[in-house]
Amino acid sequence: MVGMVVLTLSAAALAQRRGPAPLDPLPVTPADLAAFGTQPVGSGAPEMTIIHDPLLPASTCMLCHAGFDDPLTTVKPYRWRGSMHSHAYRDPIFRAAMTIANQDAPGAGSLCIKCHAPRAWLEGRATPPTGAADGSVLFESDIDEGVSCHVCHRLVDPAYPRKQYQPADDEAILAVLDASGLRPPEPGNAQMAVDGLDIRRGPFADALPPHEFAYSPFHSTANLCGTCHDVSNPLYTRIGADTPAPGDSYALNPFNEPHPTGLKHGQFPEQRTFSEWANSAFAKGGVDMGGRFNVDPNDPDPPVSTVVSSCQDCHMPDRRGFGCAEFFEPPERRNVPYHGFVGANVFAIDLLLHLHGPDGDASFDQYTIDSLRRQRDETIDMVQRATDAELTQAGPDLRVRVINQCGHKLLTGMPEGRRIWKNVRFYAGDTLIAERGGYDPQSALLDDASTKVYEQLLGIDEPTAALVGRPAGPSFNLMLVNRVEKDNRIPPRGYERAAFEAAQAGHVGYEYDDGQFWDDTLFCIPPGATRAVFRLYYQTSSREYIEFLRAENTTDENGQRLYDAWEAVGMSAPVVMDEGEIALAPFVVGDTTADNAVDFSDIERVLTHWLDAGLIGRTGGDANCDGVVDFDDITFVLSRWGRTL
Ligand code: HEC
Ligand code: HEC
Ligand code: HEC
Ligand code: HEC
Ligand code: HEC
Repeated sequence: MVGMVVLTLSAAALAQRRGPAPLDPLPVTPADLAAFGTQPVGSGAPEMTIIHDPLLPASTCMLCHAGFDDPLTTVKPYRWRGSMHSHAYRDPIFRAAMTIANQDAPGAGSLCIKCHAPRAWLEGRATPPTGAADGSVLFESDIDEGVSCHVCHRLVDPAYPRKQYQPADDEAILAVLDASGLRPPEPGNAQMAVDGLDIRRGPFADALPPHEFAYSPFHSTANLCGTCHDVSNPLYTRIGADTPAPGDSYALNPFNEPHPTGLKHGQFPEQRTFSEWANSAFAKGGVDMGGRFNVDPNDPDPPVSTVVSSCQDCHMPDRRGFGCAEFFEPPERRNVPYHGFVGANVFAIDLLLHLHGPDGDASFDQYTIDSLRRQRDETIDMVQRATDAELTQAGPDLRVRVINQCGHKLLTGMPEGRRIWKNVRFYAGDTLIAERGGYDPQSALLDDASTKVYEQLLGIDEPTAALVGRPAGPSFNLMLVNRVEKDNRIPPRGYERAAFEAAQAGHVGYEYDDGQFWDDTLFCIPPGATRAVFRLYYQTSSREYIEFLRAENTTDENGQRLYDAWEAVGMSAPVVMDEGEIALAPFVVGDTTADNAVDFSDIERVLTHWLDAGLIGRTGGDANCDGVVDFDDITFVLSRWGRTL
């Protein structure tokens, strides 16, 4: 892309950055990672700000909450087993990345474990003195179960007394956290308020389980998900006005001290899925999506309302079924929350099946394999619900519009390696004559210069680069990055620029108008083309990211293991999100304004886009169709001056 630095780390650059630098590695101590919320067992925090009853492994819930009859057709909460929550710690991409985090900032791994295996963190297995940030003292079940049932189901709403029906003992739990100054002030960074006692919280007031439970409206809100789906780096402090703004910078805190505010808007934003949602139309009353999400295909009498709002509406859709095995005679409900937490990550599923399925170490049981296979199909289906595409011809340009139908940016979440791009093939009859955004499945390389790639790239700014001994610019070092280099991801419905910028979820190097939840790209049509075929692709991990995770690793086998598995499963093959085809009408070559004549307006168009280089493809102007807008286009227009249809 024009103006963007290509993200590759050459061996020379690697060698150079390993030179002596004052803060390589960052001298992190547990104090630097101090956070609000329930504290780890063994940390010396006061009684009741740590858990009392142990968090049970999911296998103990499975006894009743799985569907033994037919795991693939019945809806039971244990469908979680196919979700990335269940595999959040085992996930080989995560593991390779955590090794790098611990190399760059020894001890930072405990922050990673806090979200990816929260039970281990809460029970003190990820923090000193009882635990270790490299995961070496985790239980087998921590590794096996990632984000497990009991953690989510003991979460307490930190915003009490917000709602009428709050579990009675929440007030006491929050009072204890308040007394230690630990009540989580906002959703984010896994700052959890956890019930110290084993009282399982859920969405149904009329449930009659054979265990202690409490009705918890919190579990039906996006705030619960926001606990982990806004991620910030607490090692950095934002330098700027009270409200975050585009010109802000982020500086390393003094070490061995807690972050000065502990608030996410004072830290470097790594993921803002919850904030993107919170500033969308979905959060403000919901959106009628016409049955795209949250309609049960097996319910003969589906609900009348097709309005969706919370994360749960799209990621935990209502299904007709039982919340528990039938031998407890639970009521049949039409709104059992589906625990697939289906997202976009097909690649991780392929890696997991490869490494742990029958052809790998065979550690997965049949239920896990079946669940993951089904999750794979559901993930592709979800990815295909995420967008709509529209193709129109404007004279010599093909306009490709992609509409974001998600509750957050398209794409959202983890920035490293994730991307979406537009691929267009122009045909003369059956002959392919040109391609934009071509991808080579053999090398996993994308021709990103000829198309628009939606992604967020993070990087290191100059002052910090000198301190940490790395080159300034784009970087995948999660603990070191402190600048957004690029963000052109398509906003959700209800987008307002000011609100997104204030939530540290604005755009960099690209612009969207308020209310815009789509994006257009103009591709010039090569002479002779009679039709165009469009595909929108989603890729979980780019080649550059996988190579980085291997090249940077000086500690363990996780980078090589990931690399080998990546090669074996097809290199994070892109998933088709949308496709379409359009027949092309004759046009005047060089007529970039589509007024059927090559004239002064075309020169103007070229100039506008030339000066607007950052917004590639938005205004057209590539008169000679070579993929860039430059002086050659002016000469091209002049050479065809006066032509008409
Ligand atoms: C001995 C059987 C059994 C076991 C074991 C069991 N549950 Fe339950 N649980 C039930 C039944 C029955 C219900 C009621 C289901 C309903 O009403 O839809 C239930 C309901 C729940 C609810 C919903 C409460 C509400 O208000 O909506 C949650 C949450 C829950 N269980 C969590 C767990 C977790 C977490 C575990 C493992 C740590 C677990 N259960 C283990 C039988 C069991
Ligand atoms: C506050 C919670 C939180 C913390 C802390 C956190 N993560 Fe994550 N991580 C997430 C969430 C949520 C996702 C899923 C986002 C998505 O799928 O796009 C994720 C996804 C990832 C992924 C992508 C996995 C895949 O399959 O593509 C990697 C890699 C990762 N995290 C690494 C780390 C590392 C390394 C750390 C510690 C430095 C860390 N995370 C700390 C919440 C967290
Ligand atoms: C305790 C922390 C935590 C909580 C609470 C949490 N998540 Fe996650 N979630 C994660 C982590 C960590 C990952 C990344 C797993 C990975 O890819 O390694 C993730 C991944 C996901 C994904 C991506 C799956 C994919 O295949 O791409 C979705 C969707 C998701 N979560 C939805 C939710 C929803 C909805 C809620 C609220 C009901 C929620 N999460 C609550 C930690 C959490
Ligand atoms: C209107 C429906 C809708 C709502 C509301 C919604 N999502 Fe999503 N989400 C999607 C779709 C569709 C995808 C798959 C396409 C994509 O990656 O953007 C997705 C993808 C994701 C991913 C995977 C990203 C990746 O690249 O791996 C995560 C994580 C996620 N959502 C979390 C959340 C959380 C947390 C909330 C609430 C704060 C939420 N979503 C609200 C529809 C929704
Ligand atoms: C990421 C957090 C998360 C994880 C992990 C999770 N759940 Fe849930 N669960 C929820 C939320 C949120 C709801 C309520 C959703 C709603 O109201 O739409 C729910 C609802 C339930 C219910 C109520 C259904 C009923 O009919 O009673 C039960 C039971 C339950 N979960 C059990 C489990 C079990 C068992 C596991 C592990 C196998 C599990 N959950 C894992 C978040 C989670």
